[in-house]
Amino acid sequence: MCYLRAALKLVILAGLSAARQTAADAIDWSAMLTPGSVNYSGDGTYYGQQGGQEDAASCGFGADFANSLGAEWTTGVQTFVAMNDPQYNNSVSCGQCLMYRGTGAGAGGLPIPSTWQMGMATNLCPECLFGSIDLDKEGDGRWKIEWYPVPCNVGSGNFSYYFGGQPGPSWFMFGISNTRYPVADVKVQNPNGAFYSLTRGVNNMWSADGGPYNPPLIIQVTSVLGDTVTDAIQSFSGGNGLAQFPAPLTASAPAPASVPVYITASGDPIIEVGGRRLLHA
Ligand SMILES: *[C@@H]1O[C@H](CO)[C@@H](O)[C@H](O)[C@H]1NC(C)=O
Ligand SMILES: *[C@@H]1O[C@H](CO)[C@@H](O)[C@H](O)[C@H]1NC(C)=O
Ligand SMILES: *[C@@H]1O[C@H](CO)[C@@H](O)[C@H](O)[C@H]1NC(C)=O
Repeated sequence: MCYLRAALKLVILAGLSAARQTAADAIDWSAMLTPGSVNYSGDGTYYGQQGGQEDAASCGFGADFANSLGAEWTTGVQTFVAMNDPQYNNSVSCGQCLMYRGTGAGAGGLPIPSTWQMGMATNLCPECLFGSIDLDKEGDGRWKIEWYPVPCNVGSGNFSYYFGGQPGPSWFMFGISNTRYPVADVKVQNPNGAFYSLTRGVNNMWSADGGPYNPPLIIQVTSVLGDTVTDAIQSFSGGNGLAQFPAPLTASAPAPASVPVYITASGDPIIEVGGRRLLHA
């Protein structure tokens, strides 16, 4: 255990220097804009396929659910993972896509390959230490891994909403899937026109009482990167919305202008001014 604690401390210190991370950060989300700019390290373990049991998982969506959506969201995802408790951050990291690989050391019957693989956090690993992930697949052993957060490959897809319980105008609860980045906050417009913060449950679903809230529900969704988009949920049956968080930006060759120029995934040049991203004329 002393060994583990020492290792954990080293990991945290490494994270601090590599990512200018503050002690409060569960995950340095800005690293999604420069993939590989931070690597977390810890143990990789396996928790096997639990049949239908992992379907809901801690995030309210699991492998089966995510796949059944047929959404762009899971494009490229090879493994659904359970995130360690400190970085799970009370479900904030649900839907976090990441790249992981084994770094060689470890013990057991099935080493985690050293090639990068894409994962998505859909579950919580309560006993895992900072930096560690538990893979939702058959395997054996405990292996040193490293991983870094990336945006999910949502393509041109928009948010998708699923309701739980028996939603109605005076109470509802919904989850959001197909998000490029994890969700930090959701507000709904109340009958007076003001936006009211919804309550996040341990199952990563957002609920409201009061109201009456009659569809379409006008909502504001804020990502862990601070982007806020507005969308409308047309009915208590859920379904696809019309909003998505802004595309990830890839820094291009140094720009002649004094402002940085980025290229979006679709190839459009963009400049960043005062933290806002504008299409480059
Ligand atoms: C957890 O996520 C929230 C919402 O983004 C953030 O405000 C908070 O700082 C995070 N906590 C940690 C420990 O990173
Ligand atoms: C993280 O890993 C990637 C891929 O090997 C590497 O390019 C990058 O330099 C690493 N980042 C840090 C901060 O070590
Ligand atoms: C996503 O929403 C935009 C409008 O914001 C719409 O133009 C686009 O067709 C939607 N994408 C899909 C895949 O439905």
